[in-house]
Amino acid sequence: MTELLNLLELEELARARLPKNAFDYYASGAHDEITLADNRAAFARLRLAYRVLVDVSRRDLSREVLGLPCAMPVLIAPTAFQRMAHPDGELATARAAATAGVPMINSTLSNTPIEAVASAGAAPVLFQLYVYRDRGETEALIRRAEAAGARALVLTVDAPLLGTRERDRRNRFRLPEGLEVANMTASGRGALPAVADSGLAAYVAEQLDPSLSFRDLEWLKSISDLPLVVKGVVRPDDALRCVEHGADAIVVSNHGGRQLDTSVPTIEALPRVADAVGDRAEILVDGGVRRGTDVLKALALGARAVLLGRPILYGLAIDGQAGVERVLAIVREELDLAMALAGCPDLDAIGADLIA
Ligand code: FNR
Ligand code: LAC
Repeated sequence: MTELLNLLELEELARARLPKNAFDYYASGAHDEITLADNRAAFARLRLAYRVLVDVSRRDLSREVLGLPCAMPVLIAPTAFQRMAHPDGELATARAAATAGVPMINSTLSNTPIEAVASAGAAPVLFQLYVYRDRGETEALIRRAEAAGARALVLTVDAPLLGTRERDRRNRFRLPEGLEVANMTASGRGALPAVADSGLAAYVAEQLDPSLSFRDLEWLKSISDLPLVVKGVVRPDDALRCVEHGADAIVVSNHGGRQLDTSVPTIEALPRVADAVGDRAEILVDGGVRRGTDVLKALALGARAVLLGRPILYGLAIDGQAGVERVLAIVREELDLAMALAGCPDLDAIGADLIA
């Protein structure tokens, strides 16, 4: 692999390797892609007030997230259709997660069945849930995730319908021959409809349940003992209601700018959500995390850990498992250095005072 220096140069390398249909699906955001850019810009605006004369000769990046051991405060975000990036797809991601010592969240819309992903590597696998209109089908999916050994359900709540990605509309996004929504093949819901538009947008509108509400968090808690993580929240009042209805953790996320364009950048939404929830639930954040200093800023503003989305897909596209391992190694090196330079020997030392 070309010596990859940082996560920002990944996108252009991936563009050169992927068919346009796949690259555009991975890279795009909704409409004018304002939130997509803002997620990054908001991290870049924050300035660090570092501490000096702290003994940082030894640094500890590890912590538990949802009771799971993490070698660093990073999880792999759920992203659909990873076999468009590399034939090994989700299996390569799971193995790279194991190498790096971080958990992987597998999407409902993976190209590999949850059973195979959960047994691919030693990393803990969490199951991202999209609720189908057919609740029996949804419950069957949860049972399969439980049986496969998934460690939590990550319910995504920012996608009652799919945001409009204009690049996908132009490309008439479809899955390449041979790839499906692998978890749903057996139930006859594995294929995206052939439409003169984004096949995924049509699939979501046909299959997923836009009536999902807070009451459904209680439904999920009543049918499964797995910890419940709610992903896609940006408001403190929503976060609180999620917790009141049984959520064990919240992911502050705007889906990587792919849903409601011009929604608030996540690193700006984070502090108020973290304040409102306090220690009643763990708070995670994603969207535009590309540098070690971004991870540091997220933790300073109240996150227990961050999720990485597109960089994982681009790593996969560039070099499969080894590419994802390289991406995670870069994040680790950068966070380790940022902690040393900011005077933080461990993650508990990272506090709000670091933000100028
Ligand atoms: C996603 N995301 C996502 N989220 C989810 O809950 N279920 C899913 O199936 C997907 N699929 C998906 C596909 C692609 C191509 C992308 C880029 C994103 C959102 C993802 O989990 C995460 O919130 C963002 O990707 C985080 O932003 P960054 O790291 O990509 O900037
Ligand atoms: C996406 C969906 C699948 O963002 O979550 O494309």
